[in-house]
Amino acid sequence: MTNIEFAPLQGYTDAAYRYWHNRLIGGVSCYYSPFIRIEKSDIRAKDLRDILPENNEGLNLVPQIIVNGKDELDFLSAKIRELGYSRIDINFGCPFPLQTKKGRGAALLSDPQKVLELMEAIKDNDDIHYSVKMRLGMSSAEEFYPLIDIINHAPLHHVALHPRVATQQYKGNVDMLSFERISGEITHPLIYNGDITNLGEINSIDCRYATLSAIMIGRGLLSDPCLSYEYVNNVQLSDKEKIAKILELHAHLLEHYSARLQGDSQLLVKMKTFWEYLEPLIGRKSAKLIKKSINMAKYDAAVVSISCN
Ligand SMILES: Cc1cc2nc3c(=O)[nH]c(=O)nc-3n(C[C@H](O)[C@H](O)[C@H](O)COP(=O)(O)O)c2cc1C
Repeated sequence: MTNIEFAPLQGYTDAAYRYWHNRLIGGVSCYYSPFIRIEKSDIRAKDLRDILPENNEGLNLVPQIIVNGKDELDFLSAKIRELGYSRIDINFGCPFPLQTKKGRGAALLSDPQKVLELMEAIKDNDDIHYSVKMRLGMSSAEEFYPLIDIINHAPLHHVALHPRVATQQYKGNVDMLSFERISGEITHPLIYNGDITNLGEINSIDCRYATLSAIMIGRGLLSDPCLSYEYVNNVQLSDKEKIAKILELHAHLLEHYSARLQGDSQLLVKMKTFWEYLEPLIGRKSAKLIKKSINMAKYDAAVVSISCN
């Protein structure tokens, strides 16, 4: 049996979601924050708040950063260190031009010199144990091979690999052939990430790659938040039981955001995002009602319709 980690998902897995997922459902050995970046020469207050230890009580959180070189890495590491963290994950996979154009995320994969600079920089911050979350390359899996030696020589906690290239974004097939080849060459603990949506797929990856240190799941946990619980406890919940858990989770999120967001429209936008991946579980009719709700009264009625289906 392997560990299940919750992948970072910008806009979804924020502190409130992580806290209530862990408290009400669980089965996740490690949560990652969505990537933290430098904007206007500083860390955003919102990003800092998201990783404050008091907002992440009871769970194992690893803050993730996205950087373009040593200076950004040192700056963000210092801010995160101040909060008492000794683990940081570095994003080498974000495919979005807003970040890649700044030389961050997946852009690093086609620049072995920059990867070397970063791997040297982490040696200077030796009170922090870094991990990396990578893709195969910007546009070709061949980009990964020159990086293997550099990565193997760095003092990393682990390497998480999502076997797609950045130009695929989140579509197309995962490249299991490349994952297989690379898994034999990486000397650090390795984590698989990509397209895992059910217990069968977890078991199949776990069987095929017995030495993996964890399986990291993103969208599969958004569409089935109980998947981690089921795997770790070796049980299968009915759809009804899963929906009951999700309604409880979303009720807590609603209470949390009602107290923090201003006005119904902000609250509505935020709450709707949490239902985006849940249509297969809650049914098309309720999913559509939620998506189309124009105020909180309509939203509440749409949510009630789920339990009546
Ligand atoms: C909406 C969205 C936001 C994401 N945000 C991040 C992020 O902040 N940091 C990161 O490393 N990956 C991010 N990812 C990538 C996921 O962590 C994960 O690697 C990817 O979705 C593949 O795994 P999955 O098929 O299990 O979802 C994001 C993906 C999506 C779809």
